[in-house]
Amino acid sequence: HTPWPGLIEAYRDRLPIGENWKTITLREGGTPLLPAGHLSELTGCEVYLKVEGLNPTGSFKDRGMTMAVTDALARGQRAVLCASTGNTSASAAAYAAVAKMTCAVLVPQGKIAMGKLAQAVMHGAKIIQVQGNFDDCLELARKTTAEFPTIGLVNSVNPVRIEGQKTAAFEIVDALGKAPDIHALPVGNAGNITAYWKGYSEYQADGVSSSRPRMLGVQAAGAAPLVHGAPVKDPETIATAIRIGAPASWEGAVRAKEESNGVFRAATDEEILAAYRLIAATEGVFVEPASAASVAGLLAAHAEGWLDRGQTVVCTVTGNGLKDPDTALLGMPAVQPIPVDPVAVASALELV
Ligand code: F0G
Repeated sequence: HTPWPGLIEAYRDRLPIGENWKTITLREGGTPLLPAGHLSELTGCEVYLKVEGLNPTGSFKDRGMTMAVTDALARGQRAVLCASTGNTSASAAAYAAVAKMTCAVLVPQGKIAMGKLAQAVMHGAKIIQVQGNFDDCLELARKTTAEFPTIGLVNSVNPVRIEGQKTAAFEIVDALGKAPDIHALPVGNAGNITAYWKGYSEYQADGVSSSRPRMLGVQAAGAAPLVHGAPVKDPETIATAIRIGAPASWEGAVRAKEESNGVFRAATDEEILAAYRLIAATEGVFVEPASAASVAGLLAAHAEGWLDRGQTVVCTVTGNGLKDPDTALLGMPAVQPIPVDPVAVASALELV
């Protein structure tokens, strides 16, 4: 029983990695595909959660970042830059720290969850708050790295990010012994849906699986450009990770949807928060709000009769709930402390 080696070693023959490159890894990937009992009961399907919050920095971004930082180092770059709603910056900061590279992150002012900011700080990134949203930050990152090519751009517009992230689809097929019928995931900048579709397609082309899932891409209602078919100028949602109005991987997402006979749908903040609370309360999995969009979309699709009984469904839950404690505690009433007394405990439990 050998320990999980990280995704570059696990899938080296399917990744663009030079033989003698130094690999920068935190042993990312190999995340659980967890049977979701309550969601299965609700939908009559066999539902699984791909728990990406259990990656080293708490999100799926680590899959792309092990590739992007390994690649940047092999190219002789000494610094990396990204735009981020938080998770990309936490991941870039950690991998750059291991590679002894400088990392700078451009984040939208005041719109990033506290845990993610704390991670970037602890891993020693240079944090630059920008008076603008994610889309402004990404444009700025692209322009900066175009002008200063010694700085590597580690957003998912960098194709090696997609290569790393496609391994999540490999892991799902490896675990199930087949591709699922439906795959639901949150969509922001649309790199991840592009990556999953690439992974499923490569496995099918090589005969590892005989089919590919229908893709269900879920956006927040206030930031749903792919659902509307046009960019959104001022995206707004409580799910700050996917508060994005002009997805960079637009074409990849549309291809995934069309080739898979899939759909894009929007979930309101209320639906996202309800799914967020439901999976914490019933499945024991604490995710961040954006991650719950996949489950919110699945439940809405089920309500509309889009699912068939007995189908195998995978929902990617993309990030760990600990990243955003503020949203978890939103509206929680202040609780009075009790005396050190068993009777007071029982009374607080409303047993006496
Ligand atoms: N879920 C979480 C938790 C995310 O952080 C992101 C993207 C997504 C879903 C959407 O993935 O962009 O590939 O469609 N976060 C980026 C960031 C934008 O900067 O951390 P996508």
